[in-house]
Amino acid sequence: MKALILCGGFGTRLRPITHTMAKQLVPIANKPVLFYGLEAIKEAGVDDVGIVVGETSKEIIQAVGDGSPWGLNVRYIHQEQPLGLAHAVLVSEEYLAGEDFVMYLGDNLIKDGIKGLADEFRTNKPNSQILLARVKEPQRFGVAELEGGRVVRLVEKPDKPASDLALVGVYMFDGNIMDACKAIKPSGRGELEITDAIQWLIDNGLAVDPHVIDGWWKDTGRLEDMLEANRIMLETMEPACEGHVDSESRTEGTVVVEKGAEIIGSTVRGPAIIGEGTRIVNSFIGPYTSIYFGVEVVGSEIEHSIILENSRVVDIPGRIEDSLIGQNVEVGRSPLKPNAYRFMLGDNSRVGII
Ligand code: G1P
Repeated sequence: MKALILCGGFGTRLRPITHTMAKQLVPIANKPVLFYGLEAIKEAGVDDVGIVVGETSKEIIQAVGDGSPWGLNVRYIHQEQPLGLAHAVLVSEEYLAGEDFVMYLGDNLIKDGIKGLADEFRTNKPNSQILLARVKEPQRFGVAELEGGRVVRLVEKPDKPASDLALVGVYMFDGNIMDACKAIKPSGRGELEITDAIQWLIDNGLAVDPHVIDGWWKDTGRLEDMLEANRIMLETMEPACEGHVDSESRTEGTVVVEKGAEIIGSTVRGPAIIGEGTRIVNSFIGPYTSIYFGVEVVGSEIEHSIILENSRVVDIPGRIEDSLIGQNVEVGRSPLKPNAYRFMLGDNSRVGII
């Protein structure tokens, strides 16, 4: 069995962060989302991975390389335009060579991995197996209708969902999916939908098995989903300290201090992770916060947030919460007169002030 990881798309819902980085590389608990997927695929006993890349190909290739750190053989497949998930399957025809494969959307995070699902597919040998999860807003996803345990209908982002069962971004297929992807037409949003391709399998009498997961799953396409994923992953960590915590500082609960990080005159209340070479000085870092590498936080309070690499947060009087701060960002006080807010914000930035 092979794996196909999809890492195309523009990540519009995570702008401005995704103006400069691939959404699959945004870190959750200081690890890029995509790396959790690579680990899950390896754990499921799959070694050959094709990664479909688009606009952000350079960064993805730089981050994953040949896959050897995970014990995987990674090949890259270029998709010139993001024309849909089924289109990504079509451009991978030569790589897949008719074999069974697991398709994994690179921005999805499944806490319990996919080993159970892959084993079930290998044993039962349906033509396809889809993962489903009960969600609050099914209209944001592909939605499945089941009858007597069988999948009868799949609709992509329906206005009036027939159930609360959303398609999780992990699918198992045999070679028949290629015929399905060739047969379907683009949807209203102009994409070849994998949801329609699976419906084609059903309509042509092929076996599509549903597998409803009860564990936690997230499509990390939006800020609130990122923060939730970060909460869940931070809760699974063990405390560790490879950096320096001075005698004036306190760490409470599960706190990971990575190599070369320094905590000076500060309180860090876990679950929280402080990245490599990051300095926390005279500050408070509250629960559910991930601070990536090379960051400096001075005289400030941050809680329930993700801060990316090499940013600086200095002397902020109010507490920063529910925030995602990008790379090389400076948040500080303005010393100039007149007393005024001074911003330089990227396109699609969002700022909340008190
Ligand atoms: C895609 C699929 C959708 C699925 C979702 C899971 O949506 O089209 O059926 O439920 O992934 O993450 P998209 O992220 O392309 O909007």
